[in-house]
Amino acid sequence: MTSPEPLLQVRDLRVAFTRRGEPDSVAVDGVSFDVAAGQVVGLVGESGCGKSVTSMAIMRLLPERGVKISGSVRMDGEDLLTLSDAQMRERRGRDLSMVFQDPLTSLNPVISVGLQVTEVLRRHRGMGKESARKAAADLLERVGIPDPRRRLDSYPHELSGGMRQRALIAIALACRPRLLIADEPTTALDVTIQAQILELLRELVRETGTALIMITHDLGVVAGLCETVNVLYAGRIVERAQRHRLFSTPRHPYTHGLLQSIPRLDAPAGEPLAAIRGSVVDNVPWTHACAFAPRCPRSLETCVEVSPTGESSGGRLLRCHNPVPANAE
Ligand SMILES: Nc1ncnc2c1ncn2[C@@H]1O[C@H](COP(=O)(O)OP(=O)(O)OP(=O)(O)O)[C@@H](O)[C@H]1O
Ligand SMILES: [Mg+2]
Repeated sequence: MTSPEPLLQVRDLRVAFTRRGEPDSVAVDGVSFDVAAGQVVGLVGESGCGKSVTSMAIMRLLPERGVKISGSVRMDGEDLLTLSDAQMRERRGRDLSMVFQDPLTSLNPVISVGLQVTEVLRRHRGMGKESARKAAADLLERVGIPDPRRRLDSYPHELSGGMRQRALIAIALACRPRLLIADEPTTALDVTIQAQILELLRELVRETGTALIMITHDLGVVAGLCETVNVLYAGRIVERAQRHRLFSTPRHPYTHGLLQSIPRLDAPAGEPLAAIRGSVVDNVPWTHACAFAPRCPRSLETCVEVSPTGESSGGRLLRCHNPVPANAE
């Protein structure tokens, strides 16, 4: 059986921020991945590794000044990076939508939630006032907002954090996008609400076949939701594998370290957690061929001198000179 043509193909995406008199700061460095309809693909990594910049580049939401973007982001055979602003505005909302990290700053505080949802429905789906209001109430109900008709007239500050995130998801879904990018949609929420939002996203993918890019630093979220996981480090994908294989046999020392640093209920009491030493920002701009080398317990001389190329085998991508042995494979 051949796998279906991916809905989105990101190829060799590079984003550099430029500032006069300073060297370019490369935030995303040759990222490539695919997303098929109905598939959930994870982008994980520590703060500052380029998750949000990658998604903003796909959505074409980065400013033009001071930013250099190269590579391609193909959807339906068209490179989104080459579309005009007007063409991209049409596609944003209709074909691809995004739920941002912070629900309060992404909702307009002076416009009622209802108006924010109906605006999208009227603009992108050409609905009249009354039918848009009805559809908006249906959407709020769909994302689990109680008493949706009344909530249409609420302002964002009148909703709890979980409700605001639900309202944002309702807005993102209003146009029935084929691709949804969720950038840390649950980071600001407590764990019970987090679980509900994740369940909602899971249902949506199952019922509507929406493709979902799930951005998170939380491996628990990945474990519950993503089929394929891309591990990002300093703007590069260092490992990609099916979720089960990634969790059972992490090969990149960074992935291994991330998994080791999760608290386990079955660990003996008092056993310290294995933290990865240092942090991403300690090493930016990196002077080593592998950006993880200064923090890596398996680092060799060659890791400092030669950039590891991405090797694919058996559905796994690995960018490492000295990977963790794969005992179980
Ligand atoms: N407008 C900007 N100008 C210059 N550098 C930027 C800009 N936006 C982001 N960066 C840099 O790009 C890198 C990647 O940032 P990004 O926001 O994508 O990280 P992230 O993985 O989303 O982190 P977090 O988990 O904290 O959200 C960081 O080093 C950041 O400082
Ligand atoms: Mg981010």
